[in-house]
Amino acid sequence: MYDQAANLRKKVEARREPKQAKTIAVVSGKGGVGKSNFAVNFCLSLSKKQKKVLLFDLDIGMGNIDVLLGKTSRLSIVDIFERQLPIQDVIEQISDSFAYISAGSGLSNIFAMGNEQFDYFIDQYELLTGLFDFIIFDMGAGITEGSANFLMAADEAIVVTTPEPTSLTDAYAMIKHITREDLNLPLFLLINRIPNQRIGKQTAARLQRVAGQFLGKELAILGMLPEDKAVVQAVISQTPFIEKSPKTAAAKAVREITDMFLDGDRPDSRRASSSFIKKLTHFIKER
Ligand SMILES: Nc1ncnc2c1ncn2[C@@H]1O[C@H](COP(=O)(O)OP(=O)(O)OP(=O)(O)O)[C@@H](O)[C@H]1O
Ligand SMILES: [Mg+2]
Repeated sequence: MYDQAANLRKKVEARREPKQAKTIAVVSGKGGVGKSNFAVNFCLSLSKKQKKVLLFDLDIGMGNIDVLLGKTSRLSIVDIFERQLPIQDVIEQISDSFAYISAGSGLSNIFAMGNEQFDYFIDQYELLTGLFDFIIFDMGAGITEGSANFLMAADEAIVVTTPEPTSLTDAYAMIKHITREDLNLPLFLLINRIPNQRIGKQTAARLQRVAGQFLGKELAILGMLPEDKAVVQAVISQTPFIEKSPKTAAAKAVREITDMFLDGDRPDSRRASSSFIKKLTHFIKER
């Protein structure tokens, strides 16, 4: 199972240029399945492995990365678009290797940006790609016209689902939408809140089977996270669970996922010219 993910990752890595952050979108069909908690703890775990990570909250106006980290952000991504502030000003540094950008709390449709705003954002974003190994987008649930551009321009996407049938059918709908847009965007499954390994594996196998059969899409498995009350307690205390409860099952699973993920990673390999910035520009300006 993990070999398959590693092989797919190697294919993806073979297309990378050096010193360019890899952009990964964390998505789901249904809301509340654990995207933000996974994203926060995964990023933190990557940063503990000496990777430079930027967590970009793209759940505009509804984001909660700062809440999960127990921080308050003065500025957010909205300030890059609306006030043309330098991107460095809106980055909150958690440690040497872990930073995040808040999604803001006001109503703002940054995805409906004009060309001038977009050019400014791209100039600013470009400054980041040499500074980080990974830029991870925590997206809102489902898909909107604007957020779809960011998702489809990413180098790969992690689709989060729980074993619940409602979450699974929504995950499938999301995968269907993505594959219709681009069959080649690498997709990884993260099955969250599993009661046991058997149900986790069954859930993943079911999604892999239908995606293969009806969409002609291969889904790799990133990993599984158990149902663990330590996650809920960590949310309440606004501390990532890998830090608050490093010995619990969920924390152990995140560390294992991180190791698997980095094992399949080849930082020296090259990416083809279709980088995030080029793809995003294409989606926004040329469609
Ligand atoms: N592995 C887990 N074990 C137990 N509870 C969990 C687990 N993962 C998530 N939860 C619970 O689910 C809640 C929602 O998680 P989270 O905010 O990460 O979801 P989300 O997919 O980002 O939601 P949204 O779609 O609103 O952005 C958490 O506050 C926590 O209570
Ligand atoms: Mg969220």
